[in-house]
Amino acid sequence: MSDSLSDSPRLTRRPEWAALEDHRSGPLLNPSLRELFAADPGRAERYVVRVGDLRIDYSKNLVTDETLALLTELATATDVFGLRDAMFRGEKINVTEDRAVLHTALRASRDAVVQVDGENVVPGVHAVLDKMSDFAQRVRSGEWTGHTGRRIRNIVNIGIGGSDLGPAMAYEVLRPYTDRDLTVRFVSNVDGADLHEAVRDLDPEQTLFIVASKTFTTIETITNATSARSWLLAGLGDDKAVAKHFVALSTNAEKVTGFGIDPDNMFEFWDWVGGRYSFDSAIGLSLMIAIGPEPFLEMLDGFRIVDEHFRTAPAEANAPLLLGLLGIWYGNFFGAQSHAVLPYSHYLSKFTAYLQQLDMESNGKSVDRDGHRVDWQTGPVVWGTPGTNGQHAYYQLIHQGTKLIPADLIGFARPVDELADELKAQHDLLMANLFAQGQALAFGKTADEVRAEGVSEAQVPHRTFRGNHPTTTILARELTPSVLGQLIALYEHKVFVQGAVWNIDSFDQWGVELGKVLAKRVEPALTDGADVPGLDASTAALVAAYRELKEV
Ligand code: F6P
Repeated sequence: MSDSLSDSPRLTRRPEWAALEDHRSGPLLNPSLRELFAADPGRAERYVVRVGDLRIDYSKNLVTDETLALLTELATATDVFGLRDAMFRGEKINVTEDRAVLHTALRASRDAVVQVDGENVVPGVHAVLDKMSDFAQRVRSGEWTGHTGRRIRNIVNIGIGGSDLGPAMAYEVLRPYTDRDLTVRFVSNVDGADLHEAVRDLDPEQTLFIVASKTFTTIETITNATSARSWLLAGLGDDKAVAKHFVALSTNAEKVTGFGIDPDNMFEFWDWVGGRYSFDSAIGLSLMIAIGPEPFLEMLDGFRIVDEHFRTAPAEANAPLLLGLLGIWYGNFFGAQSHAVLPYSHYLSKFTAYLQQLDMESNGKSVDRDGHRVDWQTGPVVWGTPGTNGQHAYYQLIHQGTKLIPADLIGFARPVDELADELKAQHDLLMANLFAQGQALAFGKTADEVRAEGVSEAQVPHRTFRGNHPTTTILARELTPSVLGQLIALYEHKVFVQGAVWNIDSFDQWGVELGKVLAKRVEPALTDGADVPGLDASTAALVAAYRELKEV
């Protein structure tokens, strides 16, 4: 790896970076959020950005107008907007794989033109969406039957990473929109227990497997798909059954055919769609079957609203830009190591897990786009679970621990329609918790306030809340398919902004390769005791212990 510098100054040597460092250490940032609000009565209204149905309140962040201006100058200097436009134009901004990055084309309107290597890719996108819609309708209506002529009632998606997390998350989010007569399950783990639990109570005659794999070489997916095929054939006893019970979502027609799936039953996507950005491609087929084509297309509309906003909104009102820059502010200038995403919606229970791949696989990098080691922090650890459960688990650390953990709080004004009235009535309590947490984190409770409650002096330090913990509150009227699309696109573009400023390639994932290669090498030692040359002493001892325990 070369240490020489490219023509443009390294990030931390830019004057805009130095200006932010000065600003951070200067007197401006010393006021607490209490003081910032006291000094600026308009702050709560001004520090709100709207996109689509989302109202994003960033007033409880440790920023002033000057902070935001300086961060925007950094974004301009690092050419975030130029890279954004290059992405939308279909330029090959995934430099290490020499690929375009065009998940935005997956939700482009039918008449849009997006060129990759001189070819408009939009007609192909819509041809696949039409094919998916047709297939989804046929399964939902019972027109598509299994090998024995019985209706399909169970859908099992087999995939991992970007070929699992998106549809699995969205299926949870949009449960109220799903056909409740269908059983939809997701198998990802190569642990056989995952497939076992997914199919043990299913009837093979009524089960459709969707094998989702961009490359169709991923060992977990191919292993599970092979076992699923055996399970199916054990039940149906005829090789021909595969044609009616297996479909594939992939870019690799050759491997799909090699597996025995009819190419007519393959739903295509393209190498300009990254795995973790592929949920709104054919990878969403299981979701489309569950909710039907129309809500799926509404979800794509939601994505598109945010794409357009990101592409055209001015910097000061550009939501993904602001969220991205706030993360840079905390990660690079306050030393924050993590970012919590805390949805106050049970339906968003898998949303943060989805964001983990989106963010951490994209921005978990330590060399820049030119191959130089970075000397600045890159992507944060993303974590979180739905409130209010987290409040009774780890919020203690956010409130009174020693770490700065910026957090996004996500909530909705209305519960879903199908809840019984009594359960709908619980919604205000849920949201009261969201608002209370934002308030407590920002403004805390001073020692004097604690004393005023008559607390003994010995207890005062324990009951004091420092406050000044930044949160951003994302609020929408209700959790619809379009709002889900808007939320995902918001985070996709946030991640883009951060990668652009850090000058890293957010679209490759070389970091997952080494483990894959080593697992393949170690497996024979576990299975049949084969000698693995070059195994380090620690791993060799673990393998030996494993083999011994296995035999007991
Ligand atoms: O984890 C590495 C990765 O390549 C992800 O980027 C991808 O989403 C996942 O594996 C699954 O890959 P595929 O869809 O090719 O099976």
